[in-house]
Amino acid sequence: METAATSQPAPASRPLPPDLSRILLDEPTLHARVLELGHQIDLDFADKGPLLVVGVLKGAFIFMSDLTRALTIPHVTDFIALSSYQGDQTSGNVRLLMDTRQNMEGKHVLIVEDILDSGYTLDFLVRTFAQRHPLSVRTAVLLDKPARHVVPVKIDYLGFTIPDVWVVGYGLDYNEHYRTLPFLAEMPPP
Ligand code: IMP
Ligand code: MG
Repeated sequence: METAATSQPAPASRPLPPDLSRILLDEPTLHARVLELGHQIDLDFADKGPLLVVGVLKGAFIFMSDLTRALTIPHVTDFIALSSYQGDQTSGNVRLLMDTRQNMEGKHVLIVEDILDSGYTLDFLVRTFAQRHPLSVRTAVLLDKPARHVVPVKIDYLGFTIPDVWVVGYGLDYNEHYRTLPFLAEMPPP
């Protein structure tokens, strides 16, 4: 039986689904920026001991996996799940659906989030984690929509600033759809 890996032709890039209007950030652009962020985090935490990287489910799961695989410093990963959105409407009422398993006392913590919109989610997380006696709390955010900010939150590692449009792909969804598109696309209002 054939068990050795054989070279396969690269799959055709995924077409843009008809209800999405355009690709905002393509795969190479996302990949290159995530590598840059990983390199910066490597440098900043080089001599600081282990880093606890906490991905915010579900939207950050692809960014989290690419970013952590770009790190060469010692780190452990964990996840947290929150909810504040119904469809595309923010409620400002952030609920903790699943907490981290790792104790963050005495550790440097890096929160990995998909997008900063109103800021309620990340503000809630930074304040919640700060009460758990970590050495530090920093934030890595793939996308920032400055036009939508309600609560100010500091982003330490930012991927891209985007306009006030609904985006899907690379982990982000609309009613759970489109998360696994390899690129980031714009979804026009219904
Ligand atoms: P915030 O609490 O309003 O800052 O919202 C943050 C969360 O809203 C993110 O973690 C996303 O899950 C979700 N979100 C905000 N804007 C978008 C978008 O354009 N597409 C998909 N999800 C979004
Ligand atoms: Mg999210």
